[in-house]
Amino acid sequence: MNIHWFPGHMAKARREISEKIKVVDIVIELVDARAPYSSKNPMINEIIKNKPRFIILTKKDMADDQYTKQWVQYYEQCGYQAMSVNLKNFNEYQKIIEKCRYVLKDKMEKEKARGLKPRAMRAMVLGIPNVGKSTFINRLANRKATVTGNKPGVTKAQQIIRVAKDFELFDTPGVLWPKLDDAHVAQNIALLGSIKQSILPLDDLFIAAMRYLSLHYPQLLKDRYQLEIDLENENWIVDAFDHIAKVRKIKPLKGETDYDRVMEVFFSEINDGSIGKITWEDLSCVNV
Ligand code: G4P
Repeated sequence: MNIHWFPGHMAKARREISEKIKVVDIVIELVDARAPYSSKNPMINEIIKNKPRFIILTKKDMADDQYTKQWVQYYEQCGYQAMSVNLKNFNEYQKIIEKCRYVLKDKMEKEKARGLKPRAMRAMVLGIPNVGKSTFINRLANRKATVTGNKPGVTKAQQIIRVAKDFELFDTPGVLWPKLDDAHVAQNIALLGSIKQSILPLDDLFIAAMRYLSLHYPQLLKDRYQLEIDLENENWIVDAFDHIAKVRKIKPLKGETDYDRVMEVFFSEINDGSIGKITWEDLSCVNV
């Protein structure tokens, strides 16, 4: 997690993926269901061109079901196969393989009709850091260790592994960079924990998150912190800090609210999903 992407890293990641893509039948692009637009790589269309693509929205157990449904429909309308999953649930994997079989059915049948030797279909997994790529590959391959960190250049020799009778997979994922030049996107993926929260001004992130939650998920704030925010009140943010400090019994620093500690507690509860199921963007962001 938390790689700093430099132009050289991006070029290398792109080159490696373009090379591998030549020998795959389908690209499995993972995005985070809590921000299915912000957690996409901006150049994915150019990189994978017109290879069949299957977009999987991961971490559906942490996202708002209503939004997840809309995002899956949106990607289907864009012409891709799409589904949402909880990668920690083993039952999901069979469904994913079945969907790949469905997408590639015609291609495989055509090959057979042309007299080519039957072969397994081959997939590669792509996505920005922290969307679940290693979890996906490791669980499918039934192993515990992570093969690679989120390094923008993969040094280990890559292998293709057979995970079902008719299904093969590159054992290392393609790691792509997020759209970091867009402030809204950077904010969202910081809230997902895909980039270090501290690379953005933390208090700005806290204010943006609080504002969003008060507009979209007021009940979650009430349930978790007994907090009701009135955005019309010009002191709302200071009140929110003080309130969370009180509810969470955060010790004051020299008689003042310990703002850093409040943010630490809040962000960790956002990251581990304990505040509730939250999606940070709706379809309006694709029209901007
Ligand atoms: P990456 O390779 O794309 O960088 O992501 P990775 O698989 O390392 O997953 C990042 C974190 O997200 C991991 O948590 C992983 O368990 C979690 N995760 C992946 N998919 C899902 C999902 O569908 N639902 C939920 N709830 N979590 C998911 P971690 O805390 O870094 O590690 P650990 O929990 O495995 O110890």
